[in-house]
Amino acid sequence: MRIVLVGPPGAGKGTQAAFLAKNLAIPHISTGDLFRANISQQTELGKLAKSYMDKGELVPDEVTIAMAKDRMEQPDAENGFLLDGFPRNVSQAEALDAMLSSESMKLDAVLDLEVPEDEVVRRIAGRRICRNDSAHVFHVSYKAPKQEGVCDVCGGELYQRDDDSEETVRTRLEVYHTQTEPIIDYYRSQSLVVTIPALGKVEEVTARAMEALARED
Ligand code: AP5
Ligand code: ZN
Repeated sequence: MRIVLVGPPGAGKGTQAAFLAKNLAIPHISTGDLFRANISQQTELGKLAKSYMDKGELVPDEVTIAMAKDRMEQPDAENGFLLDGFPRNVSQAEALDAMLSSESMKLDAVLDLEVPEDEVVRRIAGRRICRNDSAHVFHVSYKAPKQEGVCDVCGGELYQRDDDSEETVRTRLEVYHTQTEPIIDYYRSQSLVVTIPALGKVEEVTARAMEALARED
């Protein structure tokens, strides 16, 4: 299956993507994680991306689309993928459509994670991530690690993302409303959008998403 996950910052895209990708046996492709890996490896792309991410703005389309395309062309993505954080505006969505149609492929579904804004702010404020692997995500109250500041999975140090400051989160939410939300209408016109209420336990949200995908199949 080829799936796009959309939702505001902190909606739980990364959290859900990890379970859905495992259940569906497809790779989880997160442009945010790819940028963060470039930042920790101090690549030129990482330096460029960081200057935008720290302000909560979108990294320019040209480099983002090239990076996403390169990842989608890896052999493990041949039979499907779960995109998290891409596309993030209408021109990225159009670029993805062009990429897929040139290979006679198409998307199967766009899952729109719906979470009220006050909850999104709570989720981001309490989020802690592992330095060793950004897929190891915790929350100080909703998913507290056994030992404060230490990853349960690998023992790595937990930290708060630079772009999770209150001011940057405000910009990220605004960017989401102005630039990313329009892709929901774009995909609605292709009858691909399935809205998933994303309040409740992580496993409940995963179950709702899996049921929705089974209906789409
Ligand atoms: P990105 O990394 O994609 O960040 P985001 O979209 O802002 O989303 P987040 O990672 O903040 O949240 P999430 O929805 O994954 O939530 P999570 O699962 O962690 O992008 C960062 C930046 O990179 C962008 O601002 C931009 O600059 C750049 N970028 C990336 N892609 C780009 C693109 N395509 N074009 C241009 N620029 C791009 O969950 C949040 C917290 O809530 C966690 O602590 C988790 O434990 C907790 N939680 C999750 N689910 C639940 C639940 N059901 N109940 C309680 N707690 C929960
Ligand atoms: Zn870890």
